[in-house]
Order: sequence, then structure tokens, then C-alpha cells
Amino acid sequence: MPGYTKERSSIVVIGLSVHTAPVEMREKLAIPEAEMPRAIGVLCGLNHIEEAAVLSTCNRMEIYVVALSQHRGVKEVTEWMSKTSGIPVSEICEHRFLLYNKDATQHLFEVSAGLDSLVLGEGQILAQVRQVVKAGEGVLGFGRNISGLFKHAITVGKRVRTETNIAAGAVSVSSAAVELAFMKLPESSHTTARMLVVGAGKMGKLVIKHLVAKGCTKMVVVNRSEEKVAAIREEMKGVEIIYRPFTDMLACSAEADVIFTSTASETPLFLKEHVKDLPPVSSEVGGLRLFIDISVPRNVGSCVTDVEGAQVYNVDDLKEVVAANKEDRLRKAMEAQAIITEELKQFEAWRDSLETVPTIKKLRAYADRIRLAELEKCLSKMGEDIPNKTRKAVDDLSRGIVNKLLHGPMQHLRCDGNDSRTLNEALENMNALNRMFGLESDLSLVEQKIRAKVEQSQK
Ligand SMILES: NC(=O)c1ccc[n+]([C@@H]2O[C@H](COP(=O)([O-])OP(=O)(O)OC[C@H]3O[C@@H](n4cnc5c(N)ncnc54)[C@H](OP(=O)(O)O)[C@@H]3O)[C@@H](O)[C@H]2O)c1
Ligand SMILES: *[C@@H]1O[C@H](CO)[C@@H](O)[C@H](O)[C@H]1NC(C)=O
Ligand SMILES: *[C@@H]1O[C@H](CO)[C@@H](O)[C@H](O)[C@H]1NC(C)=O
Ligand SMILES: *[C@@H]1O[C@H](CO)[C@@H](O)[C@H](O)[C@H]1NC(C)=O
Ligand SMILES: *[C@@H]1O[C@H](CO)[C@@H](O)[C@H](O)[C@H]1NC(C)=O
Repeated sequence: MPGYTKERSSIVVIGLSVHTAPVEMREKLAIPEAEMPRAIGVLCGLNHIEEAAVLSTCNRMEIYVVALSQHRGVKEVTEWMSKTSGIPVSEICEHRFLLYNKDATQHLFEVSAGLDSLVLGEGQILAQVRQVVKAGEGVLGFGRNISGLFKHAITVGKRVRTETNIAAGAVSVSSAAVELAFMKLPESSHTTARMLVVGAGKMGKLVIKHLVAKGCTKMVVVNRSEEKVAAIREEMKGVEIIYRPFTDMLACSAEADVIFTSTASETPLFLKEHVKDLPPVSSEVGGLRLFIDISVPRNVGSCVTDVEGAQVYNVDDLKEVVAANKEDRLRKAMEAQAIITEELKQFEAWRDSLETVPTIKKLRAYADRIRLAELEKCLSKMGEDIPNKTRKAVDDLSRGIVNKLLHGPMQHLRCDGNDSRTLNEALENMNALNRMFGLESDLSLVEQKIRAKVEQSQK
């Protein structure tokens, strides 16, 4: 297998985000949390993939892998994405972005810091990166390198938020959703428009909070269960929050001017046939019933757009609200970038340090083979009847010499710190030792791994 030799495994990200692909595509690719371990398993079953993680949120679908070969790995993952989503490979290629190694790492660090979010610095994305680590716990393919990458990304996300003021004022997509609603409603109806929130999970609750912050004093909440509505009421004294079960969703919609949807439903909750018979809303609120859907997959079918008297917005439409103040964005992003650069160096050093481990093992094994062979020769010359004490003394002597001789070189291979000078030295030393002692087998490690995988998949 020429072409594989000497190629080192790479960290690769294959992604589609709010910046490159429309929600129509992203929702087909979205993977629910419960499916994550299975997806990692399937990805690592691909011939050139060693480790994998999936970051699937309303704004992005990104697959991080450790690939034995960059372009073959990318090809396999893209084909898998096409198979699971039904989107043709050509279309995915048109909208995907690819980043390798340092660039892939930098991207995840920026994502985790909230630099790539619609709402700069929003905190939900960090929670989602944490969730990837939690979901990957104990999953075989969520290996040492990729979990190290994600754990480091959490550190970056935390540092950026505590050491810069990037998160000041930023909340989440939910605040942008509320903002958008108020932009579309006539000024005079801001406090009188009838609000309905469908789905009271994390996002739904935030929508309620932002509505209250904007001066809403009454709203209806439709949710599968009522368990925590009382707690929300307690928190927002003076606000009338009416709970209704899911079966009442359409009846409640008939009496609402603005409908926010944020459930994890895999299929649309609102279709054309549900919406077309709803009574029209008054001209005081603009004559259009607003659907503001922040769910991915979407909760409001795209067919609803055709209904006269209804106006549908989805997560992609929130760009309109957050595009404002580009300068402020740029300034805050610059602050965060310094931290990211620093952390990037540390992560690269850690990854490189993993590389010297095989050399340390090989060098030790090499020395031990020589020691044992010489010991054997010596003992056989000494005859059968030497006392155990002498035998032990000779054995200790051989170990002592080997350990003392190896101590120096081993020290120069170990690099647990994050000083890039010593790290480069360690790598140089590693290469030198590999050459001097002929430690590299003729088959590269990468090639061996690929052979093993191919054999496994043929069984
Ligand atoms: N978290 C974010 O940062 C974020 C940002 C923007 C958009 N979103 C999108 O917002 C949606 C909700 O996210 P979340 O973070 O709020 O999730 P969440 O906290 O898990 O809440 C999901 C809610 O949806 C309900 N639900 C699940 N399946 C349903 C179904 N088939 N029919 C009706 N209700 C159902 C859940 O109730 P049960 O517990 O009974 O299932 C729960 O109340 C997702 O589409 C997500 O992509 C999330
Ligand atoms: C992944 O980690 C292992 C050590 O656990 C290391 O041997 C291997 O080279 C790493 N792969 C990459 C691509 O860094
Ligand atoms: C909405 O329902 C989900 C489960 O169905 C529950 O976890 C959540 O707490 C409920 N929200 C409120 C505000 O009661
Ligand atoms: C020497 O060691 C061998 C095996 O290690 C053991 O069987 C034997 O009894 C020992 N002899 C003495 C004298 O301790
Ligand atoms: C790693 O770097 C940080 C700051 O750059 C420093 O405080 C820390 O001591 C370093 N750790 C090691 C093991 O060198």
C-alpha cells in the first residue's frame, strides 16, 4: 500500500454550519443526542477513521475525526452523511467546509468560545460541547485524541468567557428570536400581542424569560408536561403564565398572534392543513400570525409559508437580528483570539507528546532484548550450579547498566510540559533515536493500522 507510508493521522472536521448551509439541509443531517454513540461507532467502522465525535446543534452539524488518510477519510465521512440524510454527495460538498489539524482545532476552540455563533459569545454552545464529552464517555470511538480535543475546547470556552467580556449581554438564540418578533410586530402591539410558547425545555424557558424582560405580562405555554411551570411562575412574579397540554396546541394557536416553537420533535408540529383554518389575526398586530421556529429539525413545516396570513421565520432568519454591530463583534473576537492562540499551542504540544510515547516503548524494548540475550549468554557460561544470589546479582547488573544508559535519552523524549522549545527538541530527539537505533519497522504504523482495519471489515 504505497502512499500511506509516513502519512500521520490527522484531525479533520467536516462541517455544515449556519454560515455555509441552509436549515433545510442541516435539519436532515441533525443527529439526536441519543443516537450519538451509535453514530460514533458507525463512523469508526469506516476504513480510514480511528476516532470520531459529532457536534450537532441548531446552528451546525460538524463531524470531528482522527483519520488515517485525510482525503480518503473525508470521502468516507461525506458518503456516510449523504446516506444518513438522503442529501446527494455533490450537494453536501457544495456546502460543507473542511479543516485539518491545527485549523480544525482552532475552529472547535472558536466554536466553543462562541465566536462562530449567531449570537456572539452565547453560552448554549459551551453546554453543547460539554454534552458531546458526556455523551461520548465510555464510547470506544470517542478516543484519546478526540476526547482530548473536546475537553480542551471546554477549557477554552470557559477561559474566554471568564477572561474577556465576550458574553456580556449575549444570551442565546432565544433572545434573538424574541428580538425578531418585536421587530416584526407594530410598535403599538408590543405589550398586547398574544404570545404562545410551544415547548418549554431549555430554549422555551429562555424565550419566556426574554418575553418577560421585554414587558410581556401574559403568555400561554404548551408543553408535554407541566412539572416546572410552577417554578417559572414563581421566578416571574406578576406575569400570567398559562399552561396548556399538547393536545390543546391548535386551539391555543387560534388565540395567538405570535407562536414560538422550540421542541426536540423530529417531525413538524405545524403543517399547512393545521394552519390554514386558523382564524386571522387582527390588523393591530400587523395582520400576520408570526411563527418563530428556533428548532432544528424545524417544528413548523416549510409548507406553512404558503398559508396566507401566516409568516414563518426559522433559525436562519435570526441573522437579520444579530448582524447588527459588526465592529463590536470584531473587537470582542480579537480579545478572545489571544486566549485561543495560547491554548492552541498547548493542545498541539500535548498531541505531539503522544507521538514520542511509541519511541520510548520501542527503545526500551530494543534495549531489553539486547540485555536478555547477553544475560542468557553470560549465565550459560557460568554453569548450572551457580547460587541464586549470584544469578540475581548478574541480572541486577544488566538492568542497572541498561537503566542508567537509557535514563538520559528517555528524559529527552518525555515532554509533559507545554514549552514548545523542549517539545521540538523531544521530537527531534525522537527522530534521531529512531534513525540511530533503527526503531522504525519497515511498515509504518499508519499502514499497519489500515491493514488491520481492512482485514477486520472483511471478516
Ligand atoms: N439548546 C440550544 O442552544 C438551542 C439553540 C437554538 C435552537 N435549539 C433548538 O431548540 C429545540 C429545543 O432545544 P432545547 O435545547 O430547548 O431542548 P430540550 O431542553 O431538550 O427541550 C426539548 C423540549 O421538546 C419537547 N419534545 C421533545 N420531543 C417532542 C415531540 N415529539 N413533541 C413535542 N414536544 C417534544 C421536550 O419534552 P419531553 O422531555 O417530554 O420530550 C422538551 O420540552 C431543538 O430543536 C434545538 O435544536 C436549541
Ligand atoms: C492518538 O492517541 C494515541 C495515544 O493514545 C497515539 O498513539 C496516536 O498517535 C494518536 N493519534 C493521533 C492522530 O494523534
Ligand atoms: C416541559 O416538559 C418537559 C418534559 O416533557 C419537562 O422536562 C419540562 O420541565 C417542562 N417544562 C415546564 C416549564 O414545565
Ligand atoms: C533458586 O530459584 C529457583 C527458581 O527461581 C528455585 O526453584 C530454587 O528453590 C532456588 N534455590 C534456592 C537455593 O533458593
Ligand atoms: C504551561 O503553561 C502555563 C502558562 O502558559 C504555565 O503556567 C504552566 O506552568 C505550564 N505548565 C508546564 C507543565 O510547563
